[in-house]
Amino acid sequence: MERKFGMEKFVIRGGKPLCGVVDISGSKNAALPILAATLLTEGVVTLHNMPVLSDILIMCEILESLGCRVNFLGNDCIQIDTRNLNNQTVSYSLAGRLRGSFLVMGPLLAKTGYVSISMPGGCPIGARPIDLHVKGLTALGAEIVNTGGSIIARADTLKGTKIYLDFPSVGATENIMSAAVLAEGETVIENAAVEPEIVDLANFLQKMGAEIGGAGTDTVTIMGKTSLMPAKFSVISDRIEAGTYLALAAATGGQITVRNIFPDYVKPLTAKMTEMGIDLTVCKDSITVKSDGTHHAVDIKTLPFPGFPTDMQAQMTALLTVSSGTGIVTETIFENRFMHASELCRMGASIKVAGRSAVIEGKKALTGAKVKATDLRAGAAMVIAGLSARGDTEISDIYHIDRGYVGMEKKLQSLGAEIYRTKEN
Ligand code: EPZ
Repeated sequence: MERKFGMEKFVIRGGKPLCGVVDISGSKNAALPILAATLLTEGVVTLHNMPVLSDILIMCEILESLGCRVNFLGNDCIQIDTRNLNNQTVSYSLAGRLRGSFLVMGPLLAKTGYVSISMPGGCPIGARPIDLHVKGLTALGAEIVNTGGSIIARADTLKGTKIYLDFPSVGATENIMSAAVLAEGETVIENAAVEPEIVDLANFLQKMGAEIGGAGTDTVTIMGKTSLMPAKFSVISDRIEAGTYLALAAATGGQITVRNIFPDYVKPLTAKMTEMGIDLTVCKDSITVKSDGTHHAVDIKTLPFPGFPTDMQAQMTALLTVSSGTGIVTETIFENRFMHASELCRMGASIKVAGRSAVIEGKKALTGAKVKATDLRAGAAMVIAGLSARGDTEISDIYHIDRGYVGMEKKLQSLGAEIYRTKEN
């Protein structure tokens, strides 16, 4: 991940309970595949509840580099005009900045028959191969080659087929779905990912006229069409942002209500927090955590949805550092997603990482220190730790956090947090 000019840091004074209401923004991981899928139609697509985050802005830059016009209409509304699509190559400078850039491959291939895209970037949390994406698109009839860091795919037509995913990959499911909607005949994706963001993408594709069944189950059936129509759509809210603020409330003590969420989407997390003895009130579209800052440790194992989400692992590891007892966290999805552990240990946490597991011995409190965000969710974990710790914490490299959290310091300040953003000296 390239270092940015004018690097910024958060300065935090921790140790006080937080109280208030947080309105959850649109989901980054729903918005990215949906932005890519706008390439499937010729016209103006209007998307609402879009989180204005650096990852979203990069995806919009990618669409513009392909000839699309992107208008930010305010109020989280983005309009994409794809009528002037005139390029099928995504440059390294753009694709290399975002894992989600690879989601352009399926729709662009299906729409134009050709796409060249450099290998994706993203968090250093693992190798993040694309073999399942390639397997699925190849099964649909694409001819795919890897030439010096770029993947080139060609297909005069795509033909529906049956595809079994060795792993329920979210991105591969999204890429294959977004290609199969313009293939000839029926495609069945077996062992598909069932995350809420898959359902949201399917709902958007159906709004454009696609015929999709089974989204949200492990078998997704798509009947290809010859063309899709422009549509208006509002993306779901971000279940990981919601979970982050719920974990924060438990770590600092106090009372935080997260609003605009579908509780079932955060069930794997709230079930685990209940197990920890944390007081949660679940309403139709909000959840409140009321905490005196005490809770007991539990074991956590990340799994594909509806298992415990890997994107909440770092935040919950931070919470476990100030729980009573010892908790074991096992990360089964990514091979290098404990980079926050060493940063938390700088604040006095007791964490021992061995392979895919971390053993966390809870302490009464952490102590503020100078730390860094090593990746998006690790950065969120450091914010949780800093706000619950005694004393002052500085978190550098917060560009990682800006990739996935809309206006984090403003939302935290509204809860009474002492946090501000400043230039790295
Ligand atoms: C999506 O990444 C999310 N990103 C990730 O969120 C999330 O952690 C992940 O799904 C799992 O839920 C976006 O939606 C933009 P995968 P993705 O393909 O699609 C292996 C965040 O913090 N795999 O389900 O890349 C892969 O190595 C980000 O918001 C293959 O082996 O995840 C990993 O071990 C981080 N071959 C596992 O599957 C492939 O072709 C899960 O990857 C593809 C994936």
